[in-house]
Formats: sequence, structure tokens, C-alpha cells
Amino acid sequence: MNVTPYSAGCGALVSGIQLATLSDNEMTSLRDAFAEHGLLFFRDQDLPPVEHLRFAERFGSIVINKFFKATSDSSKIAEVRKEKTQQTNIGGGWHTDHSYDEIPAMGSILVARILPKTGGDTEFANLAAAYDALPPAMKKQIANLRAVHSNEHLYGENGVYRHTDLAEQLGGMDRVGDATHPVVIKHPESGRNVLYVNPGHTIQFEGWDFAESRVLLDELYAHVNQPQFTCSFNWLPGSVTFWDNRCTWHQAKNDYQGEARLMHRITLAGTALAAA
Ligand code: OGA
Ligand code: MN
Repeated sequence: MNVTPYSAGCGALVSGIQLATLSDNEMTSLRDAFAEHGLLFFRDQDLPPVEHLRFAERFGSIVINKFFKATSDSSKIAEVRKEKTQQTNIGGGWHTDHSYDEIPAMGSILVARILPKTGGDTEFANLAAAYDALPPAMKKQIANLRAVHSNEHLYGENGVYRHTDLAEQLGGMDRVGDATHPVVIKHPESGRNVLYVNPGHTIQFEGWDFAESRVLLDELYAHVNQPQFTCSFNWLPGSVTFWDNRCTWHQAKNDYQGEARLMHRITLAGTALAAA
């Protein structure tokens, strides 16, 4: 098994293995690589839904997304689908999956099923590297803050997704909710400090109003969204991506209008997040 950096500060490409037939030793190496990089890319995988499930269950325990449709293969596999005729895509802005949960998801395993001829990349950001590079004064300012993460503004009755052509494939309007987490967490596996706020779900700092929260959040987001912390993954048939939701952001590019794209996602359960 070979693990090579994907870009200077974001992700690693894992080659020389098949996720469907990992030996126990390979599984251990993969866990180590996942803890170190938080974002793994795989090419040329033969991972039909039953093997996607088997790999996920070997790695951890599965949580079900409250809003996405499940595949016909399994209620544990979510469809991330964009039809030819649809304009809006799922996950089109920077976000971290499930940060609105009290115990946020550990990771997500995304498998390409139908791809547009070109485009449809997924972009990622490394929030451990971004934290390390923050100016000392900013680290001090955010050290003891907590932030509120919600999904209501997206999936609630008046959420932005409900007014798009994505609405018909979304459920769970009545299952919206929020949670608060430390702004700087100690990553449960790597022990690194990580900036844990994201543009999709973080709505404010606890005890701050929206407007003053907005100013600081935007400053943090601009810092993260720089080339040295981000990368873009170009999907090919057989590509798989496995990211750690505690230390990454991602967003799906919507640059393939008129074509379909379908991905299968399995989400893995995490643990409560502790402050750094
Ligand atoms: C997701 C997601 C990105 C993509 O599955 O959580 O945001 O590129 N998908 O489809
Ligand atoms: Mn996502």
C-alpha cells in the first residue's frame, strides 16, 4: 500500500490496495493514514454497494443522513444525485457533513457511480493545517469560543434547499436541529488542534449575535479557503474518497449543467468533540 501526498497541504492518494479485499494489516495501515491525513483518495476501486457497505462497517459504525434519499440497495447508503435537468446540486458550498449533530459524524465514504463527461470535481480543505497557520492573535481570540451549528437554514421549511429543484429529493424537513461545539477541537485520533467551524452549518458563536459572529466567521473562512490548505479531486470511474469530517471541509462543484451525476455516500459515526 502506497500513501502519497495529493497536494502540498491537502489529502493523500492511496494506491496498491482494493478496499473490497483489505487484509487486516492493510486495514491498520489505512487507519493510520486516515488519522494522519484526514482525507484519502483511491482510484480504480471495484466497490459495488455491498462492498461499499462491508468496508464502511469494517471501519466503523454507520449513521444515516436525515435528509438525503437512500439508495434502493441499502437504507445505509445515501444518494448524492443530480439529474440532467436539475440546476442545484447537493453540497455545492463549503461544509462539513453532520456538524449540526450533538455527536458529529466521523467520516464519509463517497463512491462515484455516474459522472459527467467533464467537471463535477469535489474540493477539500485541511482544517488542521489551516488552524496551525492562523496568526497567534487569532488563535488566542478563538481559543475558548464555542459555535452553534445548524441545518434549519438549509433543510427546514424555509431553508434554502427547499426553494430549489433539489427539494423533491430531500426528506426530513421536521428533523432539523442544532448543536454547539468548541471552535478549536482536539482531534480524537491525531491529537492535533483543528478549526471546527464551516460555512455550511456554523451560524454563530455561542453568546455572540449574528452580525458580530459573521465578521469573525468570514475572516476564518477566508483564511481556510487558500490554495495551501485546499485541493480539488477529479472523479473517474472507480474513484473513492474517504474524508474525516472533524478536520476537513468539502464542496461539490456544479459545473456540468445538462449532465447527470450520482455518488453513493456512507457516513460513519463519530464521538463527542472536546475542546483543544
Ligand atoms: C457529500 C457531499 C460532495 C460531492 O456527499 O457529503 O457533499 O462532490 N458530496 O458530491
Ligand atoms: Mn457533504
